[in-house]
Amino acid sequence: MRRMVRETHLLPADLILPLFIIEGENQRQPVESLPGVDRLTIDLAIETGRQAAELGIPAVALFPAVDVSLKTEDGAEAWNPNSLICRAVRALKAEVPDLGVICDVALDPYTTHGHDGLLVDGVIQNDETVAVLVHQALTLAEAGCDVVAPSDMMDGRVGAIRAALEEHNFTDTLILSYAAKYASCFYGPFRDAVGSSTALGTADKTSYQMDPANSAEALREVGLDIAEGADMVMVKPGMPYLDVIRDVVREFNVPVFAYQVSGEYAMLSLGAEKGLFDRTKAFHESLLAFKRAGARGILTYAALDVAATLPGNV
Ligand code: PBG
Repeated sequence: MRRMVRETHLLPADLILPLFIIEGENQRQPVESLPGVDRLTIDLAIETGRQAAELGIPAVALFPAVDVSLKTEDGAEAWNPNSLICRAVRALKAEVPDLGVICDVALDPYTTHGHDGLLVDGVIQNDETVAVLVHQALTLAEAGCDVVAPSDMMDGRVGAIRAALEEHNFTDTLILSYAAKYASCFYGPFRDAVGSSTALGTADKTSYQMDPANSAEALREVGLDIAEGADMVMVKPGMPYLDVIRDVVREFNVPVFAYQVSGEYAMLSLGAEKGLFDRTKAFHESLLAFKRAGARGILTYAALDVAATLPGNV
């Protein structure tokens, strides 16, 4: 009877797997703050991508861990067509063509200061940043990524990226906007994984990321991004912001995604490691909660493990 009246289901197609990419061959580098997550060289990312596709996961989201020698004040490596991430996209699309590839658009892996935008005298320059993000998005589209995902929270970037994609004939490249992204402490382990935390130091991103106290503002941000041409929107972090997901889902008729961010994954993993609860049950329950709130899909570092336990695979 419980099965008969169940309102929501979790399926492999709901999950998106984030992958951290490094230079080299046949290497996996554990991310200390994310138990069970490794940074992968492109060849191993292909293997993992293949595994994901076989488990029914529709897409991966790629994040580069860029060598410090390539980081600059303006993050110019972000629009290098032969960058690590562009090579990873080309390899994945060639080897696992049915797997969707989503790429972050933001400067933080590439800047010496670890910010998502251009910094002048300690102040983020919104409009100058938008111009280079357009360049980055076009470079990623050219490499063959299916979805560009601006995660920088600058104003006006979705419209500028949409116009540039159209102008350059990338009419099939989608935009997944990180529309309501909060200035959260739960991104800590991610910043370790991509190596932006040392650069960022004690600085924060409060001049562009949202105040956790606000939800009406989230609806304004989402509304703007949809009006500017976003195909899908994201709320981030996840579990502490389920109310925002629900508000956005009820207000707008677009696919809404949630990001179970690195800090959330680490909490659940470490709690399970300590024997406080069962790992599989904890991830199931937390991911089902996103579906209940109305999310169309969830980015989670646990995507592979979880998908293996879901209908179609068991
Ligand atoms: C960078 C970016 C961040 C995340 C995704 N893209 C970190 C940040 O904004 O500092 C966080 C993901 C996570 O914590 O898992 N623009």
